[in-house]
Amino acid sequence: MKLKEKVAVITGGGKGIGKAVALLFAREGAQVVVADLDLGLARKTVEEIVQYGDNHLAIKVNVANSAEVAEMAARVKETYGRMDILVNCAGICEIVPFIELSEAAWDRMLDVNLKGTFLCSQAAMKMMMEARSGSIVNIASVAGKVGGLAVGAHYAASKAGVMCLTMSMAKFGAPYGIRVNAVAPGPIATDMTVDWPEATKVAVTNSIPLGRMGTAEEVAEAILFLCSPAATFITGETLDINGGLLMD
Ligand code: NAI
Repeated sequence: MKLKEKVAVITGGGKGIGKAVALLFAREGAQVVVADLDLGLARKTVEEIVQYGDNHLAIKVNVANSAEVAEMAARVKETYGRMDILVNCAGICEIVPFIELSEAAWDRMLDVNLKGTFLCSQAAMKMMMEARSGSIVNIASVAGKVGGLAVGAHYAASKAGVMCLTMSMAKFGAPYGIRVNAVAPGPIATDMTVDWPEATKVAVTNSIPLGRMGTAEEVAEAILFLCSPAATFITGETLDINGGLLMD
């Protein structure tokens, strides 16, 4: 058990990559807080992980809302007394040509993907600084490195921001024993990509050397590595999980 008794908060844990992380972390012994905009989905994830222990919690949170994030952190502190791990999986994506991108769509994307990561991480850091240890993993994207092609420019910009934020937080957290890393997945088969036009899926798959899209479980395994005792000298890193789509 790589995460025995660790308290791990997974935002966006209601489905997709976040849910896969919640399942894997619970199997590895963690006490998991599943935090999601959709409380029903969060509860369903918790129902699936009770088999690995009964000290899990579902919380409704909009990561883009500072008051809700503060409430979530307070609840974690009250319930467990600490937060050892935060995985910022909550996110949204949109396919829209740059020229049609509205200000409202831009703001919403940056609010959830970038500000949400900032707010949750800051709340977690406060607890982790007291404990003088902790691990945060953010979810960037290959789009944040190469620009949005299948996805919108606002999505790609938000993920580039997440990578830079990861390095800033890693520098801040290091003296307190807090590690901050990110993963940059390529196209992963979740609800986020299920509605992509068939032509897009074919074009994307053809450009991946391993010849397929990734799975949420494959991303979860990499996140587990970054949070585990196997990665205690890794911080400020963004790990590619993209089947060879981008080798940089
Ligand atoms: P998903 O759509 O399957 O799941 C996203 C989860 O986040 C949902 O449970 C949703 O309710 C929750 N969520 C959305 N907005 C929220 C908010 N404001 N507050 C709290 N929870 C919120 O998406 P998926 O694929 O699991 O994506 C997870 C992360 O991975 C996202 O940040 C996404 O950008 C990133 N990513 C996904 C890739 C893919 O191909 N699926 C590729 C690269 C990165």
